[in-house]
Amino acid sequence: MKTARAWQLGIRDLLIMSGSRQRPHLKRPIWIIVLVSLVSIFLLGAYVYPPRSTTACYILSSRGCTMFELPQTPPSRELTDNENIAQVVFKELLKAPPVRSKSPKIAFMFLTPGALPFEKLWDKFFHGHEERFSVYVHASSEKPVHASSYFVGRDIHSDKVAWGKISMLDAEKRLLAHALQDPDNQQFVLLSDSCVPLHNFDYVYSYLMYTNVSYIDCFEDPGPHGSGRYSEHMMPEVEKKDFRKGAQWFSMKRQHALIVMADNLYYTKFKLYCKPNMDGRNCYADEHYLQTLFNMIDPGGIANWSVTHVDWSEGKWHPKAYRAQDVTFELLKSIASVNESVHVTSNEKKKETVEACMWNGMKRPCYLFARKFYPETVDRLLDLFSNYTTV
Ligand SMILES: *[C@@H]1O[C@H](CO)[C@@H](O)[C@H](O)[C@H]1NC(C)=O
Ligand SMILES: *[C@@H]1O[C@H](CO)[C@@H](O)[C@H](O)[C@H]1NC(C)=O
Ligand SMILES: *[C@@H]1O[C@H](CO)[C@@H](O)[C@H](O)[C@H]1NC(C)=O
Ligand SMILES: *[C@@H]1O[C@H](CO)[C@@H](O)[C@H](O)[C@H]1NC(C)=O
Repeated sequence: MKTARAWQLGIRDLLIMSGSRQRPHLKRPIWIIVLVSLVSIFLLGAYVYPPRSTTACYILSSRGCTMFELPQTPPSRELTDNENIAQVVFKELLKAPPVRSKSPKIAFMFLTPGALPFEKLWDKFFHGHEERFSVYVHASSEKPVHASSYFVGRDIHSDKVAWGKISMLDAEKRLLAHALQDPDNQQFVLLSDSCVPLHNFDYVYSYLMYTNVSYIDCFEDPGPHGSGRYSEHMMPEVEKKDFRKGAQWFSMKRQHALIVMADNLYYTKFKLYCKPNMDGRNCYADEHYLQTLFNMIDPGGIANWSVTHVDWSEGKWHPKAYRAQDVTFELLKSIASVNESVHVTSNEKKKETVEACMWNGMKRPCYLFARKFYPETVDRLLDLFSNYTTV
């Protein structure tokens, strides 16, 4: 990296020299040859060392840097009014320091068709931590009868949700809009009716509260279930190279939740052009919108994996769902100790990317919650809960 920079410096000096001092003494043809050679060397350098040298520049010296920086890819087009509006709002929100409340809470947002089969388990999980969480329930088809006092009166105004359609994102936004009204809420976790906790409350609270990223699953999948779902209609605001994929279940910091509220431009693109049976393909906005948005505007601000575990290893259309006989202390412990996130592309190569889960720069287990558990597992889970969350 150093050589790249030193080398750029050298070129720059040469250019200055040839420009200001040597030029007058040189005869014209030689001068042209020298200039042409220098330009070619420079272009070659730019080709050989493109992104590395700019990064090196940031790392080595963030101040006197701009002078020597290779030109970034010039903006290929003028931004639209709406893009300028979005950018100025996002930048301001991202710059703002997090507002720390005196009693910070985690918002647990349940997205469910109806009843929540694990309320009694969550009740155990929440018990004794009353000041540090809030619950929101979006029941899209049937008003649930609650089995835990922590859920009573926590239903928000809900609407129908069609799986894979934009109404799914609308429900997520509705939950965020309600949860944001409580200024104490700092992290916003989206959970389904088949999700269960893998750790005790203190562990989950510390994991989510003392972090500065959102846990949004995000990776580039060039295959048919990834970028294959991209539609050119998203141009020019969303280019194919920016299109990302990831699981729907997120945990989001407050700043990012506000950005989701503020965004209309990208949301509308996905609403119109990422839907089932779009141009003969099926695109599911809940697997692409947040992923693509945050990859574009704050890639370093998301962890790129979800804190909710799901097992796709069987390679079927649906992830593995656990039955009562599957639920053992060992199963829960093994999920809770997974420390690497794995992404597999959906093309023929099935390229696997394995990354260690890093929490504030330290290797940590990846998951706080897991799905999908059948309702019949609730008694096994209740029996095991105090054991698997303490041992
Ligand atoms: C997430 O992925 C993006 C794009 O690959 C990367 O720039 C970013 O640093 C990653 N985030 C973290 C926290 O590592
Ligand atoms: C988050 O915190 C870590 C360490 O405290 C720091 O290195 C990193 O830059 C921070 N990331 C963001 C997005 O603020
Ligand atoms: C993950 O855990 C396994 C065993 O629990 C350990 O051998 C491995 O080194 C860990 N990997 C990381 C990246 O921490
Ligand atoms: C927890 O489960 C493990 C494995 O089944 C068992 O060995 C241990 O005794 C249990 N501990 C308690 C406190 O029940």
